[in-house]
Amino acid sequence: MSNPLEQLPDLVATALTTISSSVSAEELRGHEPFLVGKRSPFTNLQKTLGSLEPEERKAAGARLQEARREVEAAFEARADVLSAAERAELYETDRLVLGDVVASKISLPLSAGHPGVVALTQQSLEDVFVGMGFSVAEGPEIETDWYNFEALNIPPAHPARGMWDTFYLDLGEPETVLLRTHTSPTQIHLMEAAVTTGTLPIHAVMPGRCFRRDTPDARHLAAFHQIEGLVVDKGITFADLAGVIETFTKAYFGPDIASRLRPAYFPFTEPSAEFEITCTICRGEGCRTCSHTGWIELGGCGMVDPAVFRAVGIDPDEYSGFAFGFGIDRCAQMRHQIADMRALTDNDVRFLRQFS
Ligand code: DAH
Repeated sequence: MSNPLEQLPDLVATALTTISSSVSAEELRGHEPFLVGKRSPFTNLQKTLGSLEPEERKAAGARLQEARREVEAAFEARADVLSAAERAELYETDRLVLGDVVASKISLPLSAGHPGVVALTQQSLEDVFVGMGFSVAEGPEIETDWYNFEALNIPPAHPARGMWDTFYLDLGEPETVLLRTHTSPTQIHLMEAAVTTGTLPIHAVMPGRCFRRDTPDARHLAAFHQIEGLVVDKGITFADLAGVIETFTKAYFGPDIASRLRPAYFPFTEPSAEFEITCTICRGEGCRTCSHTGWIELGGCGMVDPAVFRAVGIDPDEYSGFAFGFGIDRCAQMRHQIADMRALTDNDVRFLRQFS
C-alpha cells in the first residue's frame, strides 16, 4: 500500500505558495478554509491515517501535525504582514497633513455663533420693559398643577383647562407635575416670594419657555416663548394696564403701530382683555395675515383676579394689580415678517444668519 503522506511535501509547498502570493488580507482570508481549515488537504489526510499500523500511524500523525503547523505559522505571519500594510496605507490616505488644516483655517472666514432671533427678541422686549421701570424675573419650566393651574384660579374641573393642552410628567405621587403651558405660574412664585420677604409692590416681566401639545404650524410651536408682566401695588387700575400696553407697543413696534384691548376671558384676571396691535404686515390696511381686520392678536391681559391674590396670601382689598402675557416667538414673527414660525426651529443657517 502506498504511503498516504507521499504527497505531503507537495501539499505544503503549494500551500506556502498560495500564502506568499496572496496580495491582500481579504484574498488570504478567502484561502483560509482550504489551507488550514476543515477543507484543507491535511484534514483529508488525517482521515486516511486510520488504515496504517499503530506504529506507522503515530509517526505519520506527527509528520502531518508538523506540516500543518508550518502552514499555519506561514498563514499567520502573512496575515500580519498584509493587515499591517493595509493599516499603514489607510493611515496615509486618511491622514490630515498639518499644512492642509492650517491652510483651510486661514482661507475660511472665521465665524462664531450668535444669539438666535428669539433670544434677540427676548432681549429687546426686556430692554423696553426695563426702560419702563420693570424688573426681569424667571421661573421654572417644570411646574406643579397648583402653580400652573390651581393658584391661577383654574380648578381641576374648570373648562378653561381645555385652553392648555398639557404635557404631564409621570413622576407619581404626591403632586401632578407638568411642563408649564404658559409663563403665568411665575406670577404666583413672584407674589409668594414678595409676601414672604415683605417686598411688595411688584413690577416685573417674566420671559421663558412654555410647552403645549400643539402640532407645529405656521403660527404655533409646541415649545415656544412667552413674556409675562405683573404689577401689584396699591391703587392700580385698568387705565394703568392700557397705558403700559400702549407705551410698550409704540416703543417696540414703532410709532405707527397702535394697540387696542378687546373683552376676553381668562380665569386669573377680571376683567380680562385680548391685546391686539395694528397688523405689521399691512399697517392696518387689511390683509390675509390679519383676516382683513387690520389688527393682530398678541396676547392676553387683565386685572389680577381677587381669587389669585387670596391663593398667595395678598389682601385684595389692600392691593390691586394687572397682568399680561404674550408670545415672544409671535413678536419676532410680526416684527421680522417671518411667514412660517417653524423656520425658528429648523436650524437653517441661511435663515438664522439674517438676524445676526
Ligand atoms: N397665560 C395666558 C395664555 O397663555 C396669557 C395671559 C392672559 C397672561 C391674561 C396674562 C393675562 O397674564 O392676564 O394664554
